[in-house]
Amino acid sequence: MEQVLFRHNKPGRCVSFDEYRSEAGFTALQKALKELSPNDVQQLVIDSNLRGRGGAGFPTGKKWSFVPRDLPGPRWLICNCDEMEPGTYKDRVLLEANPYSLVEGMVLAAYALEVRHAFIFIRRGYEIAAANLRRAIGEANEAGLLGENILGSPFCCDIDVHVSAGRYICGEETALMNALEGKRANPRSKPPFPAVKGLWGGPTVVNNVETLANIPAIVANGSEWFKGLARIPEAAGTKLFCVSGHVQNTACFELPLGMPLGEIVDGPCGGMLPGKRFKACMPGGASTPYLTSEHFGVPLDFDAVAKAGSRLGTGGIVVFDENTCMVAATLNLTKFYARESCGWCTPCREGLPYVQWLLTEIEEGRGSTEQIEILREHVKYLNYAFCALAPGAMGPVDGLLRHFENEIREHIIKKKCPFNN
Ligand SMILES: Cc1cc2nc3c(=O)[nH]c(=O)nc-3n(C[C@H](O)[C@H](O)[C@H](O)COP(=O)(O)O)c2cc1C
Ligand code: SF4
Repeated sequence: MEQVLFRHNKPGRCVSFDEYRSEAGFTALQKALKELSPNDVQQLVIDSNLRGRGGAGFPTGKKWSFVPRDLPGPRWLICNCDEMEPGTYKDRVLLEANPYSLVEGMVLAAYALEVRHAFIFIRRGYEIAAANLRRAIGEANEAGLLGENILGSPFCCDIDVHVSAGRYICGEETALMNALEGKRANPRSKPPFPAVKGLWGGPTVVNNVETLANIPAIVANGSEWFKGLARIPEAAGTKLFCVSGHVQNTACFELPLGMPLGEIVDGPCGGMLPGKRFKACMPGGASTPYLTSEHFGVPLDFDAVAKAGSRLGTGGIVVFDENTCMVAATLNLTKFYARESCGWCTPCREGLPYVQWLLTEIEEGRGSTEQIEILREHVKYLNYAFCALAPGAMGPVDGLLRHFENEIREHIIKKKCPFNN
């Protein structure tokens, strides 16, 4: 299988600047500055069908095209490396092995968007990744690939690394901009969207690490090549799937988009742990509704997973075996979200602790059948919260109600968790 993001990886260590360059690193930047206009680079990304890898799968080139070019004042590019969603660790793995594709991708994106100054907003605990990035930025500056008049061209660009204060909400793009401005990290209302009015009021593009790290290969090899990497014609490119839970190999794999779920579980993941059967998984991090073994044939791509009633999200696959209590698993996730609510809007601030209480009652054998309906109403009403944290929090609850209602009822009838003897 063709590796794009992991192409330069070396076993057990980070690739060096010299190795990356000797393996055609930074040639996409050379090509762009010599042969392509900013608009050409943007068009390549539009034609490649690259979709954002940060969770929502928004088409990257389309997002870039929303940035007005005629407004006075600076534009900004932000790389989102907050990665605090449970079950998601792909950006860390990518940057610990190779920070250069991201740096090159950011310079290319900045060129396409005519941005002078870009930021990497990184999770506090990602110390190795941050050190790699700072080193890579220094090396690129020394080699004239970053900073003033890059490769002798009129184009100039600087990148700064900013370490997050450390809350999950800081990964939401508008909360992230507040955090970067030194304000409390509450989300902002949209519209205006960041592409028009973002950081310090200027047009701003926020993209995920994996999204931006794909740009050099797209510029070097073309959009048709990128589309051809996927397993199905509707998808484009490869995807980093970071796997955890009850399988033999819990690791981060680069696989073609559109590979069926069952093939990933039985192939790269090496199947379930000895003697265990697959019960469910979250296909894309902690906010995505569960899939079951009925969905083994579903190609893991944005549209196909949505059609199956979940979301591809970040590609953080969390696998549960037959002995997992799905009520307890969902309660555990809900605790995380209730704790991480920023408290700005009432449905989320009040609703998530209430959902946590309902699931605790059911899990501990004090639940009632009416509570199932109340849970269902919360899945519906928490969609109307101020930002996507609360609807995301309801993803697992939605999956629990759709696929494991019998398991909830069993808790209520037996007045205890059937998995706790
Ligand atoms: C609560 C919350 C946390 C988020 N955390 C991240 C994150 O850690 N990394 C990320 O890339 N996107 C995160 N997102 C999505 C971002 O708001 C944004 O959509 C994304 O960075 C856009 O990048 P993309 O277009 O390349 O996917 C989060 C969203 C929400 C609602
Ligand atoms: S939904 Fe939750 S995290 Fe988002 S603004 Fe409202 S309280 Fe804050």
